[in-house]
Amino acid sequence: LEALRTILENFDGCGLKTTATSLVFGEGNSQAQIMFVGEAPGADEDRMGRPFVGVSGQLLDRMMEAIGLDRKSAYITNILPWRPPGNRNPSPAEIAICLPFIERQIELIEPDILVMVGGVSAKTLLGRSEGIMRMRGNWFEYASPGLPSPVQGRAIFHPAYLLRSPAHKREAWIDLLEIKARLKSLS
Ligand code: URA
Repeated sequence: LEALRTILENFDGCGLKTTATSLVFGEGNSQAQIMFVGEAPGADEDRMGRPFVGVSGQLLDRMMEAIGLDRKSAYITNILPWRPPGNRNPSPAEIAICLPFIERQIELIEPDILVMVGGVSAKTLLGRSEGIMRMRGNWFEYASPGLPSPVQGRAIFHPAYLLRSPAHKREAWIDLLEIKARLKSLS
């Protein structure tokens, strides 16, 4: 993981690096059974150089806590390690450039369960075109050449979305309980 971080620090192939303040690499338990992958750092993450430390991160912490997880038991990262300026949506080219790095990060963590936080993460990692509304509520297999076997994947609503649309917290809760039960059955 440290070697991957160094590679990203020295990588000049993504223009987002020039506008970002920090590289936001993954953090948490590198032996974790569960890994959360968000979209991209926001302003707080860019300032601190850490994933999910702003308001959405605080809700993600509470979502993890609700199923007995925290940053010591889980690993948290993003599809993009640099903040898109003004929090604009990342372009397909930026996502494609950063994809091999997140794929490698997943291989190095080798979790039992991969939680894709939000539509961008789910679409990118599962290579599917449906929106998050259709993808949530189901289990998927995430496979990659460097993983010994496919990982169980679950897409959940992004906490930033839940903050804007609290009515969807009910479905998020259902997904979290599913994840909790699957974690238990796999351990
Ligand atoms: N939103 C994300 O997707 N990731 C972060 O790290 C912060 C906000």
